[in-house]
Amino acid sequence: MMGRKLIVTALACLLPVFAQAAGGGGIHLESANIQPDNKASVTRGARTYVNYCLGCHSLGYLRYNRMATDLDLPADIVEDNMIFTSNLDGEPHKVTDMMNRTMTTDYGKVAFGVSPPDLSLIARSRGVDWLYTYMKTFYVDESSAATGHNNLAFDQVGMPNVLWELQGLQRAIYTTQKDENGKESEVFEGFEQITEGTLSAAEYDKTIRDLVNFLHYAAEPGRAQRISMGIWVMLFLFVFTAGAYVLKKEWWRDVR
Ligand code: HEC
Repeated sequence: MMGRKLIVTALACLLPVFAQAAGGGGIHLESANIQPDNKASVTRGARTYVNYCLGCHSLGYLRYNRMATDLDLPADIVEDNMIFTSNLDGEPHKVTDMMNRTMTTDYGKVAFGVSPPDLSLIARSRGVDWLYTYMKTFYVDESSAATGHNNLAFDQVGMPNVLWELQGLQRAIYTTQKDENGKESEVFEGFEQITEGTLSAAEYDKTIRDLVNFLHYAAEPGRAQRISMGIWVMLFLFVFTAGAYVLKKEWWRDVR
């Protein structure tokens, strides 16, 4: 009985993994190509995040000082340069606080229709390639709900195109195609740049790659420790196995 229950639970835990593999809405996802061990990249991503995202999206599982330690940043530098939010009493957040936004959930709902979600685990639930594609595929679409912008990875998204100044504005080109039954469907062809951004296309890609790298870090701040600890565990098991084998040889030597 117990065994069966365990197997069912283990399989149930795997379900979200398959669900994620099937996600993405059928669009082509660009590879994010992040380098999780590149702390400079994660730090640049953190800077972009606190400047452009934290106003709306909390990271409720990460503290500023934990980030400072992990990224080798002095805590006072983080406190002076990276904290722009305050608590509901209007006091600026401290370096020991969670990276929470100032906005209340109610305000978020009224302003955007849906309160901007916490992004602590978004790299886990959506995957880094989805995030990379999402941040690159906002486009002008007058017919689109509230913001006048749409997104290839998230149709009718309620989030404003917050990085438009960096990327510039783009328009999506669709062509109409007929299948063998004469049914028409719109096929995405590509983007057309309408206005230039302050960054070149390559610089913008790099900015987004760093930002996604930061969100990947935020989803599992203990990753680097887990991996370095894992190497020692494997090494221990290897040495232990060798020792156990020699001992077994010794004990069974005279038993024939
Ligand atoms: C002005 C407020 C605002 C800002 C600033 C903002 N967002 Fe959003 N974001 C939203 C809202 C609102 C949604 C929910 C959209 C929906 O569900 O239609 C959202 C949704 C998202 C999602 C999708 C979450 C999901 O459900 O899968 C991601 C990812 C995201 N934002 C990333 C970012 C990043 C990265 C930045 C910074 C570059 C950022 N956002 C800045 C308002 C904001």
